[in-house]
Amino acid sequence: MRIHLKRIIDNSYDIRFVNNISEAGADIRSTYPDARVFIITDVNVGKHYAGPFARCVSGRTAPAYVLRIPAGEASKNRTMKESLEDQLISLGATRNSVIVALGGGMIGDLAGFVAATLHRGVSFIQIPTSLLAQVDSSIGGKVAVDHPQGKNLIGAFFQPKKVYIDVSTLKTLPDGEFRNGMAEVIKYGAILDGKLFTFLEKNRAAILRKNPNIMHAIIERCCELKRAVVEKDEREVDYRRILNFGHTIGHAVEQVSNYRIAHGKAVAIGMAAEAKVSTALGILSSNDAARLEDALKAFGLATSFPAKMRTTAIFDMTLRDKKTQQGKVHYTLLEKIGKARVGVPMSRVRAQELFER
Ligand SMILES: NC(=O)c1ccc[n+]([C@@H]2O[C@H](COP(=O)([O-])OP(=O)(O)OC[C@H]3O[C@@H](n4cnc5c(N)ncnc54)[C@H](O)[C@@H]3O)[C@@H](O)[C@H]2O)c1
Repeated sequence: MRIHLKRIIDNSYDIRFVNNISEAGADIRSTYPDARVFIITDVNVGKHYAGPFARCVSGRTAPAYVLRIPAGEASKNRTMKESLEDQLISLGATRNSVIVALGGGMIGDLAGFVAATLHRGVSFIQIPTSLLAQVDSSIGGKVAVDHPQGKNLIGAFFQPKKVYIDVSTLKTLPDGEFRNGMAEVIKYGAILDGKLFTFLEKNRAAILRKNPNIMHAIIERCCELKRAVVEKDEREVDYRRILNFGHTIGHAVEQVSNYRIAHGKAVAIGMAAEAKVSTALGILSSNDAARLEDALKAFGLATSFPAKMRTTAIFDMTLRDKKTQQGKVHYTLLEKIGKARVGVPMSRVRAQELFER
């Protein structure tokens, strides 16, 4: 007996740029006139946007609920997922309900994973409010929680029904968080788009002032780049690993710091370190490695390991990476500004040797 399950699935969705959060709220309500809408947010984002947004989403017959959780990576875990599930079920969430992630990447990853498993999947919408989430984490459907043994170890691929980007939310984003988001923006330039990289080098001052037109253009370009990657390889079978440049070492730094070092900041350190590995392997010119390091520094990002952190602890952590296969670490390395090489395997000994240079 054979169960035939060949399927053609259309998971396509729009990324829509809106002028304010209320516009997104009204659109969601008209798309789902009768659904209960559950807005998951953190206390920092909630304070600015949850009230006005919930008022726009609330329908006469179908209410909107706001579920607020503590901010920070420490909330992205199974305990918090369970607590949200308990609240959702007791508030009457059904299969036809809609879950909205209103916040940065932490909220998007956690709320998305809740949506993926509640009633075996309910409609999910992303409203990213941090730069990092607007250029990266809200697109592509990777949702997860962390485990003490590693980041994002438990999760799913679950695409949102729609992503709404309101660039004006960056006004309330703390400068340090803005810089963390710039790490991912610089990554896109480094791995996929030399022109974008040069644009960042030339427009540093306007970017740091969060000039709305410039930020809109940058975010839109990053979304285009991510879209192209995800369309080619949704499930990260191979090509999508290009986005992991800086992440093998970056995730390790994040974990060794016990998540005290934010994702973007750790990725910047990881990119600088992985560029050095690329140079040591003769793949990348030292000139381009220096350009990357200068760009990271220009946006206030660190490029070396924290003084108090033992490099052996970071190296050991890279071996726990999800991309480690048969004892080999798989790095995405840089060939030049604008071009990366996916999945370069390295034995433990070779990787350690390059790491300790
Ligand atoms: N799913 C993916 O493809 C993907 C990709 C990259 C990163 N990530 C994940 O994203 C997370 C990092 O995202 P992040 O940097 O956005 O972290 P975050 O969600 O923790 O947000 C950072 C801080 O900024 C605050 N904040 C966000 N938007 C704000 C606003 N508009 N105004 C005021 N404060 C605001 C938050 O409350 C938080 O304190 C990590 O968990 C990382 O693993 C996921």
